Amino acid sequence: MVKLTENEFQTISGYVRMHYGINLEKKQFLIESKLWIELARCKADNYTDYWQKVRMDHTGEMEQRMIDLLTTNYTYFCREEAHFSFLMNQILPKLDQNSGGMLNIWCAACATGQECYTLAMYLLDCQNMGKLTMPFRILGSDISEKALKAAEKGRYGSGDYARLLPHWKGNYCGAFAGGEFEIKQKVKDQIRFQKHNLLTPLPSGGMFQVIFCRNVLIYFREQERSQLVKLICQSLKPGGYLFTSFSETLQGCSNMPLEYIQPAVYRRTGGQADEKKKDKNPDYRRFQTVSGVHDQNTGLR
Ligand SMILES: C[S@@+](CC[C@H](N)C(=O)[O-])C[C@H]1O[C@@H](n2cnc3c(N)ncnc32)[C@H](O)[C@@H]1O
Repeated sequence: MVKLTENEFQTISGYVRMHYGINLEKKQFLIESKLWIELARCKADNYTDYWQKVRMDHTGEMEQRMIDLLTTNYTYFCREEAHFSFLMNQILPKLDQNSGGMLNIWCAACATGQECYTLAMYLLDCQNMGKLTMPFRILGSDISEKALKAAEKGRYGSGDYARLLPHWKGNYCGAFAGGEFEIKQKVKDQIRFQKHNLLTPLPSGGMFQVIFCRNVLIYFREQERSQLVKLICQSLKPGGYLFTSFSETLQGCSNMPLEYIQPAVYRRTGGQADEKKKDKNPDYRRFQTVSGVHDQNTGLR
């Protein structure tokens, strides 16, 4: 395996952090073990040579391959299940379901799609039970094109099959055969996948009632995390909910229009509920510093 020099390591990790937010500070070995195959593929003798080729490639394909290799796309169905229960039991009953509107959910950093499909299958269940009467749409986005291709296919193996709720297997998934199964079209129809870098504003500028942004903040340092959360807030409707992972913290994200609700759940301030609270209590603080509230309540750092 070809070793990175300190200079090469700083160049590549600095670029990835600046453009994608991913902190590879202590990941020299990871970069070497993932990128050395690329060296052979593009006939580069060392990483300086490789990096020049990446920068000269105006199609962007080499950079995309690098990002596909350097991102961690690990995910699974029903991950951190408590969030889905919160959505169904706490958020759906509060929606104005007779407004004729649509429930819009953004799954930011969705990797290979299991999070989006989990959401869709839970919500289809809710529609069948009459708990959700309005239509819903899910946007799944990620920076890895390779992961998004897998998400669009919606074909998974035995480990994923084992994590499905039993009744989902017949209702929303095809038969398990040849070591894999496929998500049915009626579930796929609820989801749109799109490449998107979370350090940039969402081009479609949608406004979402719910945003899942889980298990991605851990790869960012404070500065980029703050930038990301600020942008996410711009796409979250007042009164809407943001879910992070239980292992993540919003520390350093000060002065965000977010109210801490419970571990890994935040609410965008400024909705109707806030107006009512404000009317009753003039001292009500509309904009709270989430980091202070978060740490005080969870002890997370
Ligand atoms: C560990 S996966 C999380 C998947 C899923 N959200 C979950 O909780 O299971 C992290 C994902 O974040 C994506 N990611 C990392 N940096 C990103 C960025 N700047 N913009 C968008 N996605 C990013 C990676 O490509 C990867 O698929």
